[in-house]
Amino acid sequence: MTSTGKPDRAAWIQGPSANCDPRPERVQAPWRLILLGAPGVGKGTQADLLHQRLNACHLSTGDVFRSAGSRAECDQSPAMKAALQYMRRGDLVPDSIVWEMVLERSGCLRCGGGFLLDGFPRTLAQAESLKQLMENQRLDLTAVLNYRLPLNEIVARLSGRRSCQGCKAVYHVTERPPRLADICDRCGEKLFQREDDQPNSVKVRLEAYEQSTAPLIEFYQGSRMLVTIAASGSPEEICERTIAALEDWRKRNSEHNFRNTLGPKP
Ligand code: AP5
Repeated sequence: MTSTGKPDRAAWIQGPSANCDPRPERVQAPWRLILLGAPGVGKGTQADLLHQRLNACHLSTGDVFRSAGSRAECDQSPAMKAALQYMRRGDLVPDSIVWEMVLERSGCLRCGGGFLLDGFPRTLAQAESLKQLMENQRLDLTAVLNYRLPLNEIVARLSGRRSCQGCKAVYHVTERPPRLADICDRCGEKLFQREDDQPNSVKVRLEAYEQSTAPLIEFYQGSRMLVTIAASGSPEEICERTIAALEDWRKRNSEHNFRNTLGPKP
């Protein structure tokens, strides 16, 4: 367990041979959510806050790639080395590599505590594969949260982001600074600036989003799973907005007979 007292996502980050400590509790109707939105819109920040309210685990494909990147080169598979090259440039990692990595961790999708998928799916092919997998496993997706923010605010968020190399917590130099410069409030590890937050990579990432990921909005709209959320304001305000939208969505879809109860405010 990390010093945050939260599940450490070991099985997700390290792979199927790792166990999470503590194991998420099985709940009667787990939240199974996908977080969609442009790079830098705040998906990771919201996933972290939503985890505290809904107890579902935060599963980020970007975190898996970054963790693999921090291992010694000799410990990286050829597929992972190739994936990291794509990532550094800001390009999407090919679907086959991403899907293999998710499939290895599909136990996390079956987890009784639910999940908050951040950064996956990102292409129509990935969305189709996930749909198939969930149908085969008889798992229901609760909703897809689509976060929206004007481009200039997205760029400002990306250029000031700092991330913890230990517990993966995310900060912003002006909007969400750590108490001590460059040190994580939660675990005391050093903060770093992501390689793909450099201006050239940001441009490529935003283009990749428009071309490959934005079509997922229509895909999920078509299956009536989409809940759109304005991502302006403080992270806590956006989280409250998300919870309200989910409650409203659940009421409107009462035939699904959701029995979830929202956790207390952290
Ligand atoms: P990934 O790690 O998924 O990156 P991303 O989608 O580009 O999203 P980000 O992590 O950049 O942003 P975010 O929306 O989570 O924002 P955050 O909360 O950090 O993927 C990285 C790369 O991996 C991809 O480019 C690709 O190469 C590869 N990859 C991963 N998954 C893949 C897949 N499925 N298929 C193919 N390739 C894949 O917030 C950003 C900043 O804003 C922070 O500094 C934060 O503190 C600040 N902030 C957040 N909210 C607020 C607020 N309300 N007010 C002010 N500041 C805020």
